[in-house]
Amino acid sequence: MFSHLIVNARLVNEGRVFEADLRVRNGVIAEIGRALGARPDEQVFDAAGRTLLPGMIDDQVHFREPGLTHKGDIGTESRAAIAGGITSYMEMPNTSPWTGSMEMIGQKCARAAQSSLGNYAFYLGATNDNLADVARADEYGVAGIKVFMGASTGNMLVDDPDVLDAIFRDAPCLIATHCEDTPTIHANLARFRERHGEEIPPDAHPDIRSREACLKSTLLAIELAKRHDARLHVLHISTAEELELFAPGPPDGKRITAETCLHFLHFCREDYARKGNLIKCNPALKEASDRAALWQAVNDGRIDVLATDHAPHLLAEKSARYDRAAAGLPLVQYALPLVLERYHDGILDLSRIVEKIAHAPARIFGVRNRGYLREGYQADLVLVDLERGRVVRREDVLSRCGWSPFEGDRFRSTVAATWVNGHLAYRDGQIDDRILGQRLEFAR
Ligand code: DOR
Repeated sequence: MFSHLIVNARLVNEGRVFEADLRVRNGVIAEIGRALGARPDEQVFDAAGRTLLPGMIDDQVHFREPGLTHKGDIGTESRAAIAGGITSYMEMPNTSPWTGSMEMIGQKCARAAQSSLGNYAFYLGATNDNLADVARADEYGVAGIKVFMGASTGNMLVDDPDVLDAIFRDAPCLIATHCEDTPTIHANLARFRERHGEEIPPDAHPDIRSREACLKSTLLAIELAKRHDARLHVLHISTAEELELFAPGPPDGKRITAETCLHFLHFCREDYARKGNLIKCNPALKEASDRAALWQAVNDGRIDVLATDHAPHLLAEKSARYDRAAAGLPLVQYALPLVLERYHDGILDLSRIVEKIAHAPARIFGVRNRGYLREGYQADLVLVDLERGRVVRREDVLSRCGWSPFEGDRFRSTVAATWVNGHLAYRDGQIDDRILGQRLEFAR
């Protein structure tokens, strides 16, 4: 199908940074080595010394299809993701209707097969009454089972204690949780309403969606997982206290792993003054000290995976007063530039970043043949330019929502090119969507 040779690249893979060429044949990495030499039938792509990584596998995105497509759809958001270096994604079930059955998973996969530029998988959403589907989730080829143990966009809350216990008992695959205790949040909100009426300031969000709410819910998820020896992956950790609940070191062999999102490594409470409800998300962005604790936990392994939690909403939906403003940020398009800011700051090295965005999600979810620069693996690649920065401008935003929380900010790196299954899907701002992504396969 395609045959090409990427020359003059600096590869980052499995703890090593090294110069090499990389040959792609029929969508697969055929060869990695020095001075491979182009064959007569091959196109040559000169990386010009830039840095080649395995494409990001984002284990948490909201692409809004079906039912919320005024905010985004699988086509628009997967294109934005490719521009940000994300070649594979796992999409969340809080669509409309919810993704809580085999039929809904089938419909989403059919839609993605028609429109997704990246490789895709979907979560089955647990509800208070779909335990039979949860128990059979493995037959559906899903990324995992998503349990909202705290309510968020779409109100997909599972709050029946017996049902929660049964989910952890019966789940045949990984359970990914959103942990925030809803009764605690409601009580906090009531207090703030009493004090501020309709004028609750945006920086009250971390006091309403409080650290206590996060900790209480995460403790419950861990208790349930231990009780049933379930495979638990706690999403978007946001506080230092929760980090103490996870084991350091690589994810292999762990029954309980943790993820945080790029915006928690970037923003903190001080940013509400500048960005207001634009950075309102659930869980809330918390203190600078939490952000520093997260940086440390990414380095010592208590955080296993970095993801985006890309959650597009229209500006009109974000512009409402605090308690009505939608929660969530569009993030996929700036995923790699955003995480590479921490490389420029000297907080994360390139090998660590690649482990957290590609290798670890591949191993944790058992993604087949992706997530590494290895011969025989799918050629999901991203070329980043660490020397060329760019200012984020609204007119460049590809997500349907049409805005970015980073407008006017300058990132110090750019994504120069992205390949999906060997297809050059993005190069210097141009998308080529003539070849679409594939469904992820899981070996577990
Ligand atoms: O901020 C958030 N937005 N957190 C979630 O859990 C859901 C997401 C959304 O779907 O908008």
